[in-house]
Amino acid sequence: MAAREVFSSRFGFVMAAAGSAIGLGNVWGFPTSAAGNGGAAFVVAYFILAFCLAYPVLMVELTVGRYSQSGIVGALRKVSPSGAKPLGVMVAAYGVTVASLILAFYGIVAGWMIAYFFEAVAQLLNQPAWAEWLTSFGITRNIIFMLAFMLLTMWIVAGGVTAGIERWSSRLMPVLFLILVALISYVLTLPGAMEGLKVYLIPDFSKLSSELILDAMGQAFFSLSLGVGTMLIYGSYIAKKENLPSLGVTVTLVDTGVAFIAGLLILPTIYVAKEMGTQVFNDAGTLIAGPDLIFQVLPSLFESMGTMGMFVAFAFFLLMSIASLTSSISMLEVPVSMALEEFKWSRFTATLVCAAVITLCSLTIVFNFEVLFGFVIDLTTKYSQPILGLLFCIFAAWLWNRQQLIEALKEGCPDLEKGLFIKIWPVYIKFVVPLLIILIIYQQL
Ligand code: PHE
Repeated sequence: MAAREVFSSRFGFVMAAAGSAIGLGNVWGFPTSAAGNGGAAFVVAYFILAFCLAYPVLMVELTVGRYSQSGIVGALRKVSPSGAKPLGVMVAAYGVTVASLILAFYGIVAGWMIAYFFEAVAQLLNQPAWAEWLTSFGITRNIIFMLAFMLLTMWIVAGGVTAGIERWSSRLMPVLFLILVALISYVLTLPGAMEGLKVYLIPDFSKLSSELILDAMGQAFFSLSLGVGTMLIYGSYIAKKENLPSLGVTVTLVDTGVAFIAGLLILPTIYVAKEMGTQVFNDAGTLIAGPDLIFQVLPSLFESMGTMGMFVAFAFFLLMSIASLTSSISMLEVPVSMALEEFKWSRFTATLVCAAVITLCSLTIVFNFEVLFGFVIDLTTKYSQPILGLLFCIFAAWLWNRQQLIEALKEGCPDLEKGLFIKIWPVYIKFVVPLLIILIIYQQL
């Protein structure tokens, strides 16, 4: 059997993992949730949960992945004691299903980003009729761009770990960062931007509620791509010589950092739009959030900015498309790696079949949009991801042999025994993380 592929460098892994983590969740979900939830109060809750809950779970996935050298099914089977192996396989199947359903709705939203990107191109080419079609919500448009996005995702995943995922993440992530910084530098010079910054950075703690905390937790898990085996499978491609706790911190810092920076773009942009006369609050006086914000408020702002607006729109939707693509490849890798390992398919066949099944799910959502879109998002991101994170902790801390867990962590990190991490983390994921997750979900129910 061919040797398992590994990321060729530390940089390659960080780019791939950050590419997975940084996506619509950061550049769209986080800023708009912050905007609709008392600004900085949400930001603070998100940061606390990202480091205190999501990071420990990320470490579980990376450690279990690298130890087992396999995808989610093989991994959970391997760390389960003999009686619990069927349970491991069931939880893994739940994870693969959630990863696939996330890709099913993500592909639709990412398709809109590509459509809006082409709209900016059409404007630049002075083709108003195309532009109009590209931005009108319609089943045909939704299907065409979802399919285009799925094809791109498939093409990269079919290339394999280093030649596909790592190569494209390493190329695209620096571009993403540059576009983000350029856009912020421009937007902050416009009138109204400072008001947006204030809302974003000065917390209103009266907005804190159990709902806000549940949202912030879902956001933290979604943003770090947790619970669905993505980070586990990326962990399985990390070389044994790498230091896992420090890689985990790097990924968490980059991910939350970019979310924070994206907020510096989105919130000021909303208030610039307000200043320019665009409606940004609905009749009830709350901020227009969700899809309407990105696909109505921002485009009408870009329009009011004249020619410059066309370039800004172009850069903005290119940023969104890139962010989506480096995430979607990591979602597709979950079922693909399962098919490679469990059914011994070739990478090409596995990619084709998995993408086809997920595309069918996407089509089902497109045709029943009103009923399914929001439902699938809540089911997968708000509830399933944290619950799966909790289950992973149970496997790693309760079912797996503690000595093996420590040994697996120690590889690439011989000084581990001297540090604090090893004293706290195993106990922390055994008791604190599961309890907190249960508490937050229970509070909300
Ligand atoms: N982290 C990605 C984002 O923020 C979403 C994602 C979820 C990616 C689950 C992979 C797995 O957009």
